[in-house]
Amino acid sequence: MSPPDLSLVLNGQRIEVPDDGRNLLDILREEFGLTGAKDGCSPQGQCGCCTVLVDGAPRVACVTPVRRVVGRHVTTIEGLDPGQAAAWGAAFLASGASQCGFCTPGIMLRLEALRSAGHDASDVHAVEQALLAHLCRCTGWQTIGEAWSLRVAETPVDLPSRVETSAEERAQLEGGVEQRVRLSVALGAGGFSADTAPADALRAVPASDGGWVVAPTSSEARRLARRVQGRRSTLPVRWPLEIPDGDWVARLRTTWVEPAYLEPDAAWCAPGGEPSSPVANGGAFGAKATNGPHRSPVMEAARRLADEHGRPVLAQISREDTVRWGPKRPPIAGGVDEQGRGKLRVVATPGIADRIRAVAPLVEVEEVEVDGPSTSIELRAAGWAEALVLLAGARGSVGTLRAPNGAQARAEFEDPSPSGRRRLVV
Ligand code: FES
Repeated sequence: MSPPDLSLVLNGQRIEVPDDGRNLLDILREEFGLTGAKDGCSPQGQCGCCTVLVDGAPRVACVTPVRRVVGRHVTTIEGLDPGQAAAWGAAFLASGASQCGFCTPGIMLRLEALRSAGHDASDVHAVEQALLAHLCRCTGWQTIGEAWSLRVAETPVDLPSRVETSAEERAQLEGGVEQRVRLSVALGAGGFSADTAPADALRAVPASDGGWVVAPTSSEARRLARRVQGRRSTLPVRWPLEIPDGDWVARLRTTWVEPAYLEPDAAWCAPGGEPSSPVANGGAFGAKATNGPHRSPVMEAARRLADEHGRPVLAQISREDTVRWGPKRPPIAGGVDEQGRGKLRVVATPGIADRIRAVAPLVEVEEVEVDGPSTSIELRAAGWAEALVLLAGARGSVGTLRAPNGAQARAEFEDPSPSGRRRLVV
């Protein structure tokens, strides 16, 4: 006997969905093709990318059972009033608050709920509190706060196409992969791999034995995989390298740093076809690889499973698998003197010494073998950004920074505000 239907109002239309225990996010994406709500950590409710409005209040859809929203009004980014959506999109783009766009629809909806509740441009505290429910890896929080101010003050935003073009050029320089930064992306149509899978694609998730479990829906695949996702497994921070002895004016020590990109690896493939790219619009903070030793496993899995099942298959790995499996920034420990001479130890990583020497020619690099997670120079600015921070610390100012690929940026600290905070302006 098929389960009874549940009724709710979705973007103004009354709909019925089967009462089969699925969460709201899976229903939105897989039954209705509303891919503006993103799956960044499902089903953990930690990243905020799947935020929707339920009776006007923000809710994280991946931990909201559909049963809990029976009879209520659910609004996704696709259902936002077009005028509101355009105004939010323009404010985000004008202030640089959306780059890959994976996090943006969820943040926009949460801010729209604040705006509708009457908060104004001066209500910085409310915005900071609201953003605690979200993660963004591309832009930082300052620009999102600026987008809020623009939108709430109803400042007319003229958005010439060169704003989008230069944002795209900058994003590609930073992330190393092609990225589109434009209104449609900010409003949820970023063309991420998981968003473009055909409606009839089977869903595949990793199994505990290293294989893949395939099912018609994501929730069924997760259930069959019998993976229990944890929420608070933390380890104490440790610093694996000692700073070399020396008469240094600046010292820096880091540990393994997870890139923590928001868009988990995903690829879909039709039988006999080519898999979609897991870096369809960046979304990985320069940390996903489609070649080499850290090549994402999803493309091969999607291709093989599609051929086996004779149907399109979307292969996705969870945030936890991404963190467990993916490479980290190599830890460093170093010091430099006033002339920018110094020593820097770094966990042995192919290519890292050349990257560091390219920006810090007077710094001696020592690679050290240490047991720990794998490391890679493919992560955004790995190694050389740390070296530049160390040199800036010795100078006491940031100034012009040049990347090994020739990109350059200027950054300065503004004078302390009355609160004592200093803003870094890039
Ligand atoms: Fe926020 Fe990319 S724009 S994660």
